Amino acid sequence: MKNTFETPHSPDAHYDAVSRTLHWLMALLFTWSYCTAVTHYLASDSTLDKLLWPYHKPAGLLLLVLLILRAGWNLLHRHNRPPSVNRLASFGHGALYVLMFLIPAIGLLRQYGSGREFSAFGLTIMPGLEGEKIQWMIDLGRDFHSELGWAMLVLIVGHIGAVILHSLRGDSRVLRRMLGKPGGL
Ligand code: HEM
Ligand code: HEM
Repeated sequence: MKNTFETPHSPDAHYDAVSRTLHWLMALLFTWSYCTAVTHYLASDSTLDKLLWPYHKPAGLLLLVLLILRAGWNLLHRHNRPPSVNRLASFGHGALYVLMFLIPAIGLLRQYGSGREFSAFGLTIMPGLEGEKIQWMIDLGRDFHSELGWAMLVLIVGHIGAVILHSLRGDSRVLRRMLGKPGGL
């Protein structure tokens, strides 16, 4: 339970349990997604790539669904979220949200435009197109999906670096905001 005297602006304020669960679950899934992408980039057609690559699109789809839930939750609880520690954090988190949406959305558009069927988790997500391919969707994916994917990886490394830097400077509050209070929710 939240301490009655704790407001989003108090020094030991932290993100709520749902936000924290979604953050760490998505961080884990992003790690998995980037393992598949890095292997595909460095060792396309290797045995490891053949093993990992089939997970790339389903993981991306799941990440998009979780992002929509996370954004909806944030919107509903916007008055109970701790404020950003500084402007750079606010800009960085905003950029991560934009990329977390654009990258899988562009991947799915490209998939749709290719006209090929797409199934994931035992469900037919896209049955495939009867007629012509949709070239602009394919081009959008070809020109931007991978590039934005690598750009977000750089941003994620910066994000983790910023958390480490805060902790090294003796300000472990930032990490605690996302870990929650020991023994509390
Ligand atoms: C947030 C989730 C996602 C991330 C972070 C991501 C990231 C990446 C990255 C970094 C690459 C470059 C790999 C390389 O150059 O070999 C890539 C390639 C690719 N991704 Fe994703 N992706 C995501 C979701 C998706 C989704 C949902 C789809 C389709 C349904 C998709 C389809 C593809 C395809 C087909 C390629 C190969 C592109 C090519 O070889 O030109 N991705 N992705
Ligand atoms: C080991 C990996 C990670 C660590 C240690 C970490 C740590 C943290 C911490 C401590 C915060 C709170 C910062 C604050 O209150 O200013 C935070 C917030 C945030 N993180 Fe991460 N993070 C990791 C991975 C990721 C990944 C992979 C993403 C997305 C691609 C991400 C996106 C965000 C976002 C958007 C926020 C803002 C709070 C929210 O809306 O959920 N993080 N992270």
